[in-house]
Amino acid sequence: MSVKKSIGELVGKTPLLELVNYEKKHNLEAKILVKLEYFNPNQSVKDRIALAMVEDAEKKGLLKPGYTIVETTSGNTGIGLAAVAASKGYKFRVYIQDNVSEERFKVIQAFGGKTIKLSEEPVVDEVLKATNGDFVAAIASLREKVLSKEKDIFFVDQVSNPANPAIHYATTGPEIWEDTDGKVDIFVANVGTGGTVSGAGKYLKEKNPDIKIVAIQPGPNSLPNDENPTPEEITGVHPFEGIPKERIPSTMNTQIYDEKFETETIEAYRAAREVAKTDGILIGTSSGSAIHAATEIAKRPENKGKTIVAVLPDTGLRYLSTNLFNEEYNG
Ligand SMILES: Cc1ncc(COP(=O)(O)O)c(C=O)c1O
Repeated sequence: MSVKKSIGELVGKTPLLELVNYEKKHNLEAKILVKLEYFNPNQSVKDRIALAMVEDAEKKGLLKPGYTIVETTSGNTGIGLAAVAASKGYKFRVYIQDNVSEERFKVIQAFGGKTIKLSEEPVVDEVLKATNGDFVAAIASLREKVLSKEKDIFFVDQVSNPANPAIHYATTGPEIWEDTDGKVDIFVANVGTGGTVSGAGKYLKEKNPDIKIVAIQPGPNSLPNDENPTPEEITGVHPFEGIPKERIPSTMNTQIYDEKFETETIEAYRAAREVAKTDGILIGTSSGSAIHAATEIAKRPENKGKTIVAVLPDTGLRYLSTNLFNEEYNG
């Protein structure tokens, strides 16, 4: 018998798929292998860190029966945590950015989690205004406020929690290494907290220092600026270069990557729309961004014959209310 007893046992060991039809269509002479993180029990790469951060806190005595798990997140971590909290019997509360798709709020609520929009929490808004948009500082203030007012709280904080990159070092990296028999030349990952690229990247570099690590950040047209304060953004993906050091999550190892690659949201949309038609996978915006980056890297003459592995963080089903699959939207 092979019967699982909790969703925790369903996390990880996600498949690697070669985009055979897409490669042919683009006459690519390098292989693009995608790691389909939507095979996790709640359809994103964040299921890995959700489980790992909760179990790490349990081990350290920071989380005990009767406690409430609290987090601030753009969505997927909230969903993963809500499910893990439900399955382990904890209460869960999450503060979510206002521009996140409606589906994510509903999913967290379905797991019994409480959702609060960041705009409804005055301390976040105050700090964001006072610091000209320093998100890390705003979350730190919120954390202080929650911890000073309430007891029996475990504040997860994925952007500073070492269990985040650690689980990618322990699972994502080894899975890629084993599934390719060590024949991976280039590793491509988006950066949000930096957990994926830092943890899996560290493992792969230790196995073979010649593996090239590519870290993706949003291009200039996909970030808010004075001219366009609310652009279409790549959900969960944030800049790590060209911004003040204190705004980079401590989970991001800025020494790990060999190349920084910028993608625009519309390029991500086009890649995601295309691969749905060529290879039948429905993926989210940051996954499209990873495929776009992998494609451009595959086209370089020096990469002929190489194997590129790209992490696809989540499912396209989470974006049906956005412009991702609205073919009329073209930037
Ligand atoms: C949809 C999505 N893609 C990519 C990422 C980036 O992953 P990481 O936080 O491991 O850098 C995130 C994380 O927030 C995400 O939610």
